[in-house]
Amino acid sequence: MSKSLIFGVIAFLMTGARSEVTEVFAESGSEAVLPCECKPPSPSAPFILWSKASTGTVWRKQRSGLQYWGSGWTKHGTQRIRSLQSELERGEYNLHITKVREEDAGVYTCRVEDGKLLVQRMVMLRVMKLSISPSVPVSGNSILISCNVTPWPETAAVRWTLNSIPFVPQTEIKLITSNRASVIKGKVTEKLMGNWTCVVRNKDQEGRATAPLSVGGIVHPSTDDTRVYVAVGSAVTLPCVFSPGLIPSDPLWEKLDAGSVSKSAPGLRPPSFVPSSFFSQHPWDKSTNLTEVVFEDEGRYRCSAMVGGQRLTRKMQLIVAKIDSNISSKKRSSVTLTCHLSDPREVTEYEWVHVTYDLNGTQFVRSIQKDKEKELTISKMSEENFGEWTCRFYGKFGILGNVTYQLHLSGLTGKSSAGLSHNTATVIGLSFLLLVLLLILAQMYKNHQRRKRIFQYPALETIVHTISNEREARERSRVKK
Ligand SMILES: *[C@@H]1O[C@H](CO)[C@@H](O)[C@H](O)[C@H]1NC(C)=O
Ligand SMILES: *[C@@H]1O[C@H](CO)[C@@H](O)[C@H](O)[C@H]1NC(C)=O
Repeated sequence: MSKSLIFGVIAFLMTGARSEVTEVFAESGSEAVLPCECKPPSPSAPFILWSKASTGTVWRKQRSGLQYWGSGWTKHGTQRIRSLQSELERGEYNLHITKVREEDAGVYTCRVEDGKLLVQRMVMLRVMKLSISPSVPVSGNSILISCNVTPWPETAAVRWTLNSIPFVPQTEIKLITSNRASVIKGKVTEKLMGNWTCVVRNKDQEGRATAPLSVGGIVHPSTDDTRVYVAVGSAVTLPCVFSPGLIPSDPLWEKLDAGSVSKSAPGLRPPSFVPSSFFSQHPWDKSTNLTEVVFEDEGRYRCSAMVGGQRLTRKMQLIVAKIDSNISSKKRSSVTLTCHLSDPREVTEYEWVHVTYDLNGTQFVRSIQKDKEKELTISKMSEENFGEWTCRFYGKFGILGNVTYQLHLSGLTGKSSAGLSHNTATVIGLSFLLLVLLLILAQMYKNHQRRKRIFQYPALETIVHTISNEREARERSRVKK
């Protein structure tokens, strides 16, 4: 029993004496685990000391359980060093370093003491980091991806992968490995987008560092000719969001003619064209808002801005939806609603829903009709059919948008049917009423004037004049006689 213990101690001492250094790779920012195994585990709590060659004590745990952290390893009361009780119980006196940094790299020593037991281990911590410069390159820019390992292992083999596929250097993108770093250099293209990983192998230990490369540009909308749907009268944001981190300058919004693509139409409506970056804080958001869309706003728009010496552009299409109503002239009781889109190419199905509210304002939505037809005929103009009629339009991949029409009580009489959409019936009806009213008023005024100041009327005046002239002539002749 005691013989085997002594043998064990000697064996442990020999391992320490051989000063074999365990290699540990850790990616910058991750948690590094430095191993210090002692099997079988010490039956009681041992004294543990972790120290670093250059800076001294890192962490110490007394037999009593009291812990001590070396300077530089605690900040504002939080330690970057921790140990796991479950590991300690198993005889693994591992040192966990959270959010590892390049400065943490180096040789660490672990010392475990428990009576006759003494274990000493050495660990080399190598910190890996993949850096990409510039962080958000624009297509065509030069780029440098470097794989740094601190300290760089002398006998290292380096492999690179892009999206888990081994990277093959090409003419426009080269791989350079020196005895201090491994770098990838070249011109940025969309093909280089994705997760870059560099794998360093040293003495049967492998370390890796990964970083995503995103080629800068307009990320939203991500493709040209994106379609934006909006209902007449609503507000809409035309998106133009660049990659976060980019600072595009000289932004420009243009409405393109239906015919020519390059010419910018003069028809932009400045009052409602509010750059949305006005409200958002991000310099990379160049979206714009239309506050109250009219049907004529439909069409193609282009957003552009300068980034890294290039003008990046994105085109999109604004599609405006409206509902036209048509009251049947024969039977005044029926109305036909038409869901009209400035470009219905993408629409596969229309759904008409009737929205009503109870006294508490609770909304009730009832689907009435759902098919390829964009028209809905409401045959009975009864009270239960008043309220909001919404046309939801769907594309292959789901709902595209909706537009709502208000069917009012006045629709019942057939005089007018107000709604959000242009309603000629209302206009004509109201104009006619106004005209009649004006005529009546004019007539009343005329009558009043005639009664009051009859002599003002030139025709009557002439008659009166003639009469008085005749009378004068008669009087004169009477005088002469
Ligand atoms: C309105 O709300 C009140 C209280 O929440 C409830 O008692 C009542 O039944 C509701 N009325 C309707 C028409 O839903
Ligand atoms: C119409 O669209 C708006 C905005 O997407 C949504 O809030 C609303 O619920 C929709 N209305 C109906 C009846 O589907």
